[in-house]
Amino acid sequence: MDVIALVPLAAVEPEAVEALLDRAFGPDRRTRTAYRIRSGTLPVPELSFAALDADGALLGTIQCWPVELACDDGEIVPLVMVGPVAVEPDHQQGGIGRALMERMLEAISDCPAKGCDSLMLVGDPEYYGRFFGFTAERTAGWRLPGPFEPHRLLARGDKAPDCAGALGPRVGQAA
Ligand SMILES: CC(C)(COP(=O)(O)OP(=O)(O)OC[C@H]1O[C@@H](n2cnc3c(N)ncnc32)[C@H](O)[C@@H]1OP(=O)(O)O)[C@@H](O)C(=O)NCCC(=O)NCCS
Repeated sequence: MDVIALVPLAAVEPEAVEALLDRAFGPDRRTRTAYRIRSGTLPVPELSFAALDADGALLGTIQCWPVELACDDGEIVPLVMVGPVAVEPDHQQGGIGRALMERMLEAISDCPAKGCDSLMLVGDPEYYGRFFGFTAERTAGWRLPGPFEPHRLLARGDKAPDCAGALGPRVGQAA
């Protein structure tokens, strides 16, 4: 693996992050349901990182966002949505995505923000289940603000809520 540094995402120019996301996901990425789930929020700084090469060039990013599940019984459960995880196309399959995920999971224990111990994401279970313990077991009752494939709606750990409810952004408060 050619990464030499994993740094807080805030150390990287936002324009460089956006350009990388366009290359990894395509420019229509903003229409995805995941963007609606966290609309109007800012990344959780303690859980968002960039991977840089020896020259300081950006190779990958992970961003995490404050979201919440409004359960139908009235309970509001704070969660953190993981992703996108993006790796520069020329450097994919080299361990950078895993290094970013592992750095983020390491940071959970020191993360003061609400919801850091209840992670969710929309992504491939073959990747996020196999390496990082995300499953769809608790998410069957969750509703999202847009189309999604239920088997790709994943959560991690037994603190994740399993109520029926609507997932959306946690806006207007610190993550
Ligand atoms: C998905 C992504 C983040 C993975 O990061 P990466 O650095 O390329 O991959 P890693 O080196 O960490 O992991 C490689 C392993 O994961 C597997 N893998 C990678 N992407 C996968 C996927 N989407 N589904 C299943 N397995 C996958 C590879 O087969 C490989 O397995 P192996 O070690 O048995 O050969 C990266 O490829 C990427 O940015 N892709 C485009 C954007 C995207 O789809 N992001 C994920 C959704 S949030």
